[in-house]
Amino acid sequence: MTPSVTEPAPTHSALLETYRAAMRHVAGTVYAVTTAQGGEPCGILATAVSSLSFDPPSLLVCINQAASLHGPLASAETFCVNVLGLGNRDVAEQFAQGRGEERFGVGEWEQWHGLPVLATAQSSFVCRRAHRHDFGTHTIFIGELLAARHRPHAAPLTYYDRNYIDISHAPACPA
Ligand SMILES: Cc1cc2nc3c(=O)[nH]c(=O)nc-3n(C[C@H](O)[C@H](O)[C@H](O)COP(=O)(O)O)c2cc1C
Repeated sequence: MTPSVTEPAPTHSALLETYRAAMRHVAGTVYAVTTAQGGEPCGILATAVSSLSFDPPSLLVCINQAASLHGPLASAETFCVNVLGLGNRDVAEQFAQGRGEERFGVGEWEQWHGLPVLATAQSSFVCRRAHRHDFGTHTIFIGELLAARHRPHAAPLTYYDRNYIDISHAPACPA
């Protein structure tokens, strides 16, 4: 191994810029995370979502504390993670452009377990909010699975370098 060269520590703003630039090149599946508050649907697009444990089956979502969904999610008993497929791009665009309830004006939304669930999503995970952990600008919400459903032969909507891309026909990398 070559000896490491000691470099001056980057400024905080340079570090943030490097972080943002590097994260732009991390491809992520696009999710619509939803809940309901006082009978009103609320939701945002997210890529910071992950499976957490097999038993109990659980997921985590990282939500900006400044996002409109944060308050409702912090007080909700349940939430839904909708995994968007290529056919849900119109829903992703409506979520990005719209506000509040108007985000649900595009797509086939139905009530399931009292939550707005996208009927045509690649898959949907209804969760009981089990735990939260605040860190920096975001909160990690952990959800324990109550119900799930998925469609066969789905192709994920993927976000990469500020664009939506289709990875469903991407060839396997040669070894
Ligand atoms: C592709 C994409 C992925 C996003 N991922 C997240 C995420 O993981 N967590 C998050 O808090 N916001 C994420 N956002 C931003 C939110 O969707 C939303 O735009 C932002 O929180 C402002 O929402 P508001 O107008 O409802 O407050 C993402 C936005 C886009 C377009």
